[in-house]
Amino acid sequence: MNGRGDNIVLIGFMGSGKTTVGLKLSYRLRMPVEDTDKLIERRQGISISEIFAKEGEDAFRRMETELLEEIGNQEYQRIFSVGGGTPVRQENRALLKRCGLVVYLRARPETLYERLQGDTTRPLLQCENPLARIRELLGERQAAYAECADVTVDVDDIPMEEILEQITDAWDQRDALAKNTFEDERLTRGKGEKT
Ligand code: S3P
Repeated sequence: MNGRGDNIVLIGFMGSGKTTVGLKLSYRLRMPVEDTDKLIERRQGISISEIFAKEGEDAFRRMETELLEEIGNQEYQRIFSVGGGTPVRQENRALLKRCGLVVYLRARPETLYERLQGDTTRPLLQCENPLARIRELLGERQAAYAECADVTVDVDDIPMEEILEQITDAWDQRDALAKNTFEDERLTRGKGEKT
């Protein structure tokens, strides 16, 4: 696929449904599914919250980048759901694209808030006002998600079946949709972006 891997990569904010959609898509397309947060937790032997607390967010971000580098070098076809902050680093956006077709599950802040209420596993949302934090982070990240995505699927109030249908259609047309090569992405690296 234009120098890109033959995986499906699901990106989107925390609570956008990447893990659930990944599992259902895996069943439908008969492709294995992996979650990069879970791979990191397994490798480190501790939870994401513990990694943030003990080693800090920067260390976690480096783990994400290292893992994406590895995945990009692997041959077999899979579905990946990745952490909500993964596409923020420009280098990760290039790596995600190298992995395959990037699908952005887009949701409104209110939807995300509703789904994440009471959650204690996301260190970035353990604060006084999670809705305000979601709005703020989403505002900061939206451009990164959009830049990285080959396809955007709105998930607010959309039945799961329809979401899966849209992704399956995109997968069938992946050669046409995933036009930018990893090399193209590398040319755009470092243009005024924070990592
Ligand atoms: C994060 C999202 C989480 C996890 C970590 C940081 C983020 O993954 O990687 O807590 O920065 O948005 P999910 O999107 O799977 O919740």
